[in-house]
Amino acid sequence: MPALPDVIQLTQPDDWHLHLRDGAALAAVLPATARQFARAIVMPNLRPPVTTAAAAVAYRQRILAALPAGMAFTPLMTLYLTDNTPPEEMRRAKEAGVVALKLYPAGATTNSDAGVTDIRKCHATLEAMQRQGLLLLVHGEVTDAEIDIFDREAVFIDRVMQPLRRQFPELKVVFEHITTTEAAQYVAEAGPHTAATLTAHHLLYNRNALFTGGLRPHYYCLPVLKKEKHRQALVQAATSGNPRFFLGTDSAPHASVMKEQSVCGAGCYTAPAALELYAEAFEAAGALDKLEGFASHFGADFYGLPRNAGTVTLRREAWTLPEVLPFGDATIKPLRAGETLNWKLQ
Ligand code: DOR
Ligand code: ZN
Repeated sequence: MPALPDVIQLTQPDDWHLHLRDGAALAAVLPATARQFARAIVMPNLRPPVTTAAAAVAYRQRILAALPAGMAFTPLMTLYLTDNTPPEEMRRAKEAGVVALKLYPAGATTNSDAGVTDIRKCHATLEAMQRQGLLLLVHGEVTDAEIDIFDREAVFIDRVMQPLRRQFPELKVVFEHITTTEAAQYVAEAGPHTAATLTAHHLLYNRNALFTGGLRPHYYCLPVLKKEKHRQALVQAATSGNPRFFLGTDSAPHASVMKEQSVCGAGCYTAPAALELYAEAFEAAGALDKLEGFASHFGADFYGLPRNAGTVTLRREAWTLPEVLPFGDATIKPLRAGETLNWKLQ
């Protein structure tokens, strides 16, 4: 990476974990991502969820139809794994260009009611995925009410991840948006078929951000922000140069009115300044030279896709994120709304 102190040029990056929603919300948020990223792995947790190859193809067409003229962007489609996903659907999914299935433990997060109640119900489908070369993307939290919310990721590793890896050693698995020392260590020690995505917000913030001067709904996401020692382990993993850790924003847009009420949906909307936020985190760690691999190379390599040909430029330049942005009939607050950032995508 030709890095000068004030300018960073990167191979055009991809976002390996993104929520785009549908309809007017989709049209409102898509340009922010397409400005920054060439491709993105699009999460299937719509209502109803995207569970079939045909539904994924239709969703991809709606995304492309919502893309403003002159913008280039490739959505990489995923299916939502359920207890009843038929193994035969994996061949149709592969033929339709679907790249992965998303495992949401039932009830773990936004729109996950249809998720998997017991992974053992999915064994035939996981076998079919392994055969077809489809990846498994995992929301790695147990959902048991008696497990403390801050421990749910670590418990998931023991209860689900370890047995899954033993049973399907050839399946490529991405542990999505990891938030703990335990997950970073697990992925670092797992073999070549296990990777993890890291969000900008989990690299920048610990759980204090949720409570600074009052309850801060825009910092609430799942898995929830953890203690500082975990944040430090995530930064270490992201900046280590290990190619099995790569960028996935988990940008998850919710209208401001849905965030700012007695029950607030989980999700941080980071798409408008995603690369700038990652640059801030990498710079704070003294590791700007590690940003390109993390943002632009390792994800494509793990997915077995070509790296992008173009480049993007980040410049050291103070700018202020808008307080609110339009979101269909509503408005949305990006993470760091109204605050000044020090890096700016050109
Ligand atoms: O914070 C989150 N928001 N975590 C998820 O897993 C889902 C996402 C969403 O869809 O809003
Ligand atoms: Zn997500």
